[in-house]
Order: sequence, then C-alpha cells, then structure tokens
Amino acid sequence: MADAEIGVIGGSGFYSFLDEVTEVTVETPYGPPSDSLFLGEVAGRQVAFLPRHGRGHHLPPHRINYRANLWALRSVGVRQVLGPCAVGGLRPEYGPGTLLVPDQIVDRTKTRVQTYFDGVPLPDGSVPNVVHAAFADPYCPAGRRTAADAARGRDWEPVDGGTLVVIEGPRFSTRAESRWHAAQGWSVVGMTGHPEAVLARELGLCYTSMALVTDLDAGAEAGEGVSHDEVLRVFAENVGRLREVLFDAVAALPASTARTCACAQVHADLELGIELP
Ligand code: ADE
Repeated sequence: MADAEIGVIGGSGFYSFLDEVTEVTVETPYGPPSDSLFLGEVAGRQVAFLPRHGRGHHLPPHRINYRANLWALRSVGVRQVLGPCAVGGLRPEYGPGTLLVPDQIVDRTKTRVQTYFDGVPLPDGSVPNVVHAAFADPYCPAGRRTAADAARGRDWEPVDGGTLVVIEGPRFSTRAESRWHAAQGWSVVGMTGHPEAVLARELGLCYTSMALVTDLDAGAEAGEGVSHDEVLRVFAENVGRLREVLFDAVAALPASTARTCACAQVHADLELGIELP
C-alpha cells in the first residue's frame, strides 16, 4: 500500500501541518527535495506534508528543487497535491487575508527547470522523450472545487478563480512591474507557483493552488511596498484557519482511484521514456 495519497506543500510560514508524523527521507533522480516528507493522517486519509522552503525557510523560491519535490511526493503514492502559498494582491479588493483559488497562471520566472522531459539522461541511463503536456487549464478542476468549498465551509469566502503571475524573485516587484501585472488583468503575484503546477501536471498529479494574500503588491498600494517580514507576519496570522481549510479539503478530495479529471489522464497516450515512480 502507498504511504500517502494526498500531498500538501507548505509555503512561507507553514513548516508543519500534522501533529503526529513519520518523517521519511526520499532520494530522487533530481537530487534532494526541500526537506523530509512528513507522513500522517487526516480524516482517515494518508497525507504527505513537505515544507516548500525547508523547515526554517532556508531555500529561496529560485533555489527550490521543484522537480525533486513533486517526484518525491509521487514516489510515496501521492496523486493529488494541495499547494498553499503566500501571494501579493494586485487589486485593492484583494487585501491581506484574502484566499484565492486561481484557475490560471502566468510564468514570469527566468531560471527554473520546468520539465522532466528535457532529453537529459537520468542516473539510471533512461532518457526522457520530448513530451508537451497539455496545460491550458493548469489546475485540477476537482481540487479547485474542493478547496473553495472547504474555505466556504469555514466561513472564509474565497475568490474562486483568477490569475496567479509568478515572478522569479527573490526580490519583490517594482511599482512599474506591479502596475503592469495588474493592467494585464492578473489577480495575485507570487514566487513559487511555477514550475510547481506544470511539474505536477507532467507527473499526472492533480494540483490545486491555494493563494493566501499577505500584502497588497507595490502597484496596488501607496505605501513603502512589500517587506518579507510583513509576508511572514500575515501568513502566521492566517495559518491556523488555512490549516483547518486544508484539513477539510483533504477529507473531501476524491479517492486517488476515483479521479475523473483530465490531470490523471495526461499520460494516457504518451511515450515518456522514463518510468514514473
Ligand atoms: N509573496 C507574498 N507577497 C508577494 C508579493 N507581493 N510579490 C511576490 N511574492 C509574494
């Protein structure tokens, strides 16, 4: 039997999720993940928690080994992933404490490896084929619905849909960049949503982003701009209720074997050239 069926990747200020856990170190062909996996149970569902930045937050967004993280989760049996993250609001009405469940993503990162299928042989000698994963709808529709319903169930009306623009970081945006992001109609800005979502898709995992607004980004406010302390403070203020929403979402996700969304079918007709864990 698999060790876990649902993965939760914790963001800034979110370094532990479950009280009773088994810590597991996982090796991957891509190197080490951000930290150990912490396995435990929520409402009878087996969950693997991974702190995205490492416990204690030593990894900046551009140094996270996203490929190792998703691979490690899949290798313990995970098929559905919830990805809470801290973001800045790009509209005045999306102030701190807003929870947004995005349905689109825009990649403005610069240096990150964003595929498993890059033709580079793995340590075992297998060579991935060229694969172009479908990504028009980057997030799992069932996961999004479940996450939004779980928030409503806790009297936290989420913004259901919207575009997450992901910047390279680790610096925050200038006012001009931020105004430009807002003028495109994008909703929130973060630093870790990409390539997490696309790598999950390449592995046939359902992936749902849950974006907690910790600040108004520079273009949407008149003050000094964002600071890291502010992000961590607001995340810490909201982490309790975010945890409750995540617990409810984990309980309500479909069984791995009952997934009917397209995410699970992404490999059906593809020759991958590598064996997925
Ligand atoms: N994470 C939290 N707030 C952010 C912001 N304003 N820009 C980018 N990433 C963020």
